[in-house]
Amino acid sequence: MRIDDIERTAVIGAGEMGRGIAAVGALAGYGVAICDVDPDQLGAVREHVEWSYGKSVDRGVIEEGEADAALDRIETTTDLEEAVTDADIVTEAAVEQQAIKEDIFADLDASAPDRAILATNTSGLNITRLAEVTDRPERVLGTHWFNPPMLMDLVEVIETDYTDRAIAGTGEELIAELGKTPIRCRHDVPLFIVNRLMRPYGEAAAWLAYYDEAGIEAIDAAMKYGEGFPMGPFELADFTGGIQLRVEAEEDHLKDDRPLSYDTEVCPLLHDLYDQGRYGRKAGAGYYDYSEQDEPDIPEDAGEGFDTLLVWAPVINEAAKMVQHDVASAEDVDTGARLGGNWPIGPLAKSDEIGAERVVRKCIATAARHEPIAKVAETLPCELLLKKAKTDETFH
Ligand SMILES: NC(=O)c1ccc[n+]([C@@H]2O[C@H](COP(=O)([O-])OP(=O)(O)OC[C@H]3O[C@@H](n4cnc5c(N)ncnc54)[C@H](O)[C@@H]3O)[C@@H](O)[C@H]2O)c1
Repeated sequence: MRIDDIERTAVIGAGEMGRGIAAVGALAGYGVAICDVDPDQLGAVREHVEWSYGKSVDRGVIEEGEADAALDRIETTTDLEEAVTDADIVTEAAVEQQAIKEDIFADLDASAPDRAILATNTSGLNITRLAEVTDRPERVLGTHWFNPPMLMDLVEVIETDYTDRAIAGTGEELIAELGKTPIRCRHDVPLFIVNRLMRPYGEAAAWLAYYDEAGIEAIDAAMKYGEGFPMGPFELADFTGGIQLRVEAEEDHLKDDRPLSYDTEVCPLLHDLYDQGRYGRKAGAGYYDYSEQDEPDIPEDAGEGFDTLLVWAPVINEAAKMVQHDVASAEDVDTGARLGGNWPIGPLAKSDEIGAERVVRKCIATAARHEPIAKVAETLPCELLLKKAKTDETFH
């Protein structure tokens, strides 16, 4: 299947992500059939898409006529077979549950044309197992969009060991055709590229606070105001519901038989907050209290004296590990961090800037001081990082 062969697309799941992905596809000129088991969700698609196109018209990004024509290219149905019967590519964006997604993939395999590519927008579930329920595992891949799809520029294209490289290439071309930047995750690893970087960002910070190396506000202020991250690790965890996700996901798909799967423990700090129902901003409290404000009030100078390399080092180590294991290129890792996380600089460019040797020293020093940090935030330097430090080579 080549990019020119793709005309009709389908999206399964009309929630926040599904309708956003449909909106992007229709705007790029593709016909989109969107399917959901919940008619109310389908009923709301037009209104949501109209609203987001309206925002683009207001910003002068598209013309009103384009928006109207794109809306006409979106069809809704509760019948999965009808949605995919003539689709060239299907993007599944239903709820994040492995069993439900496996059922959907079996149905898609039965109803979509043999030529169709089947993609999942899972945030981190096992794509290999989705491929295995079909008779076309070579045509199954991940396309992981960021929220909201209309605004976020990045999409991760994930291969399993079954995926035909040419099919993944077509997937990547399609993402570019839709006006987005694809990065390639060459193995089905838990959390893929960007969220693998986000993990040590939050983990290292949590363990540092747990061991009283620094306060929550100090770490957040230093990373946000000092390093230029959009949010510090604790503010970010509260914003994304990271405490709940981390505690609940740990028992689930992060420990499976995929490469670079995790075998780690959750920081007791997170367990304490979880047990108190302090899941984050939506719950009214997390690391910070939100009963009277939407954003934490973090003084800009609170981070003075905090060594930000304590957080950067495990993040850079994880980035290097992905390159070492051929999960992604150094370019794609850094592009993912910048476009997916809005980070000021990619972790490998950061390593090049400060020198891998300093990063290695910090990893080892932290690991030596606190064994759980070494285990959980995986601060022991990987082979590639050690090699870069020894040879003084850069990643870019
Ligand atoms: N929200 C995000 O920030 C984000 C970002 C990247 C990826 N994702 C992933 O995208 C997927 C969808 O997330 P969301 O935030 O849009 O969720 P959502 O809860 O807003 O929407 C999920 C939709 O799936 C529908 N659904 C459930 N079972 C179905 C089935 N069998 N067939 C068809 N539709 C079904 C539900 O009715 C609902 O409308 C998940 O896998 C999620 O992990 C989410």
